[in-house]
Amino acid sequence: MKIAIVGLGYVGLPLSLQFARSNTHVLGLDIDAAKVDALKAGRSYIRHIDSAALAEQVHAGRFDASTDFSRVKEVEAVIICVPTPLNKNREPDISYILKTGRSIAPHLQKGALVVLESTTYPGTTDEDLRSVLESGSGMKAGADFHLAYSPEREDPANPDIKAADIPKVVGGYTPVCLERAKTLYGRAVKTIVPVSSCRVAEAAKLLENIFRSVNIALVNELKVIYQAMGIDIWEVIQAAKTKPFGFMPFYPGPGLGGHCIPIDPFYLTWKAREYSQNTRFIELAGQINTAMPQYVVNRAVEALNARRKSVNGSQILILGLAYKPNVDDERESPSYVLLELLKERGADVAYYDPYVPVIRPTREHPHWAGLRSVSWDRQSFSQFDLVIVATNHQAVNYQELADWVPCIVDTRNALEAIPTHPGQVWKA
Ligand SMILES: NC(=O)c1ccc[n+]([C@@H]2O[C@H](COP(=O)([O-])OP(=O)(O)OC[C@H]3O[C@@H](n4cnc5c(N)ncnc54)[C@H](O)[C@@H]3O)[C@@H](O)[C@H]2O)c1
Repeated sequence: MKIAIVGLGYVGLPLSLQFARSNTHVLGLDIDAAKVDALKAGRSYIRHIDSAALAEQVHAGRFDASTDFSRVKEVEAVIICVPTPLNKNREPDISYILKTGRSIAPHLQKGALVVLESTTYPGTTDEDLRSVLESGSGMKAGADFHLAYSPEREDPANPDIKAADIPKVVGGYTPVCLERAKTLYGRAVKTIVPVSSCRVAEAAKLLENIFRSVNIALVNELKVIYQAMGIDIWEVIQAAKTKPFGFMPFYPGPGLGGHCIPIDPFYLTWKAREYSQNTRFIELAGQINTAMPQYVVNRAVEALNARRKSVNGSQILILGLAYKPNVDDERESPSYVLLELLKERGADVAYYDPYVPVIRPTREHPHWAGLRSVSWDRQSFSQFDLVIVATNHQAVNYQELADWVPCIVDTRNALEAIPTHPGQVWKA
């Protein structure tokens, strides 16, 4: 079987490899020619995806990449994994999905299956995508071609979970579409979870992400309350999670990051308005989580004050630019907000991240492009008045950090087990 996967990013690339390993020929399609060239040559551009594993599939002839969307005529199924960001008014931007639909529609073969994997609001697959596919191909979904939605579940850099073991929720536009999608994913994934429609599958993905956003907001709020009471939230969570039922630990931090949790809930907020519904939990969680960088800065002010210093004129380092540990993905990272807030207050700011040696140009933070991570040594670290641990990368030696800098604001409890001086570490 030969399939196409459109969008070779954090979702599409590992999915391509999973299908290729399962003896499916995969044609990866992307508009980014540089990525396509690298991948065709067996070079992964994502740190936690092994180039050797990619090269093996390229050499076996099971993975090829291209920018030529007319090659969709070669395949029996197309899986779409393109970005679904928010626009500047924080509304869903499904233009990448629609553009992909327009690019593939003229080349779609009769009987082919199209599956959307990008996270989005209910109705995107059977209204928006279906409409561009039908008008571009002159065919009818459910009759001439098949259509389905299956959300991606990905925990980047988690070595304990294999893609094949993650159950895959699938919803079809018609019962036959569902059967086709179940057969497709059955090649690469052990457990398929069929649901009654594309909309249920879209809504299930949003529930998963809203659940995280709301629970992270809850512990972030409790962190602030307990801190005022002199109680350590980390110790509280350790104790609470010994309950063998009815509790799942979530951990506080400097704010939400990444391409999913800060964004996806607002896809539902927007769509819910069409039905005169308010998404109060989502809005409240958003308010609490987006207030976290300011809370961390306030703690940094307190920590410096205790040393008779002001933020203005201090040398402050943000440790960790990536939004979560052990990855190189810094999209939507709260570390950018920390850099901004501290710079606005007159600090000389820098960052250290072993996985982000230099900040790439981005639409959201163009002025930070080109800034380089400081090097990991006593000399460069001893110049800082304060270090804020924003990401708890495992590769960081926190004992050396404690030996080198006088004052640390720790948003991840990364120094819990490290011997430090009284007043040196401020949890935030
Ligand atoms: N990253 C995650 O952990 C994760 C997890 C679950 C779901 N998702 C969802 O999966 C989707 C993709 O996310 P991602 O993290 O892989 O994004 P990404 O930015 O890493 O990758 C998207 C890829 O699509 C390409 N692209 C953009 N427009 C295109 C077009 N018109 N045609 C072809 N290719 C195009 C880009 O060049 C890029 O390579 C999003 O909807 C996201 O919410 C992501």
